[in-house]
Amino acid sequence: MHATSSPEVQALFDQIAPVYDRLNAWLSLGQHRIWKQMAIQWAEPKSNGINVDLCCGSGDLTLMMAHRLRGKGQVLGIDFSHQQLAIAQQRAQHLPWAKSIQWIESDVLQLSLEDNSVDALTMGYGLRNVADIPNALKEIHRVLKPQSRAAILDFNRSTSPGVRQFQQWYLQQIVVPIASCFRLKEEYAYLETSLARFPTGPEQVEIAREIGFDGVRHYPIAGGTMSIIVLVKPR
Ligand SMILES: C[S@@+](CC[C@H](N)C(=O)[O-])C[C@H]1O[C@@H](n2cnc3c(N)ncnc32)[C@H](O)[C@@H]1O
Repeated sequence: MHATSSPEVQALFDQIAPVYDRLNAWLSLGQHRIWKQMAIQWAEPKSNGINVDLCCGSGDLTLMMAHRLRGKGQVLGIDFSHQQLAIAQQRAQHLPWAKSIQWIESDVLQLSLEDNSVDALTMGYGLRNVADIPNALKEIHRVLKPQSRAAILDFNRSTSPGVRQFQQWYLQQIVVPIASCFRLKEEYAYLETSLARFPTGPEQVEIAREIGFDGVRHYPIAGGTMSIIVLVKPR
């Protein structure tokens, strides 16, 4: 499957939902949790505010954010995959500090949140998957309160040939063969396709500045294979 439109991406994530968390943990050797903590820290969630995790999938980053806030404030986990959200809800149901989380099934390109209502926002491995990156960033800009931040974690489309070669080797020789064991070869081959058309760090910075974000910073992490872009909505 070569997912390019929203319904195809939605179907893809519905399909991989049962194994998504396990595969993520193996393929990153558990490192994805460190990168997610970095994104949460840079978004500066507020214990007396509204904190949003977009493209929350099975809720990993959302749960980490609620845990960091010790169940205070409001945390919204938003995704359009029904199956991923069902797993997120299951994971949260017996965790006392997860009571602050509301799971919302929605397309992040059309959020039902009010303008200037969100105190902090994260997105983990979502931006590369949305059908329209500039419009996703416009929605983020619309809903954030002035002076609030968004931190967006994803694979980095590095401009370094060495990093690109490593990523290609990793995706083709490690990710796809492991995914094949779960009969999800095609679904995970999509990772390489989506990365190939993902804007580079400097390109993301330019798009975000054009939309009106201030203090835009793109941080390559994990040897340049991943990155976090931090966006601040001006006053
Ligand atoms: C790679 S998963 C990331 C899940 C989670 N944030 C994590 O880091 O484990 C990407 C998620 O983005 C969601 N997604 C992609 N495009 C979306 C859109 N337009 N609206 C809502 N969710 C979307 C998919 O359903 C999927 O759950």
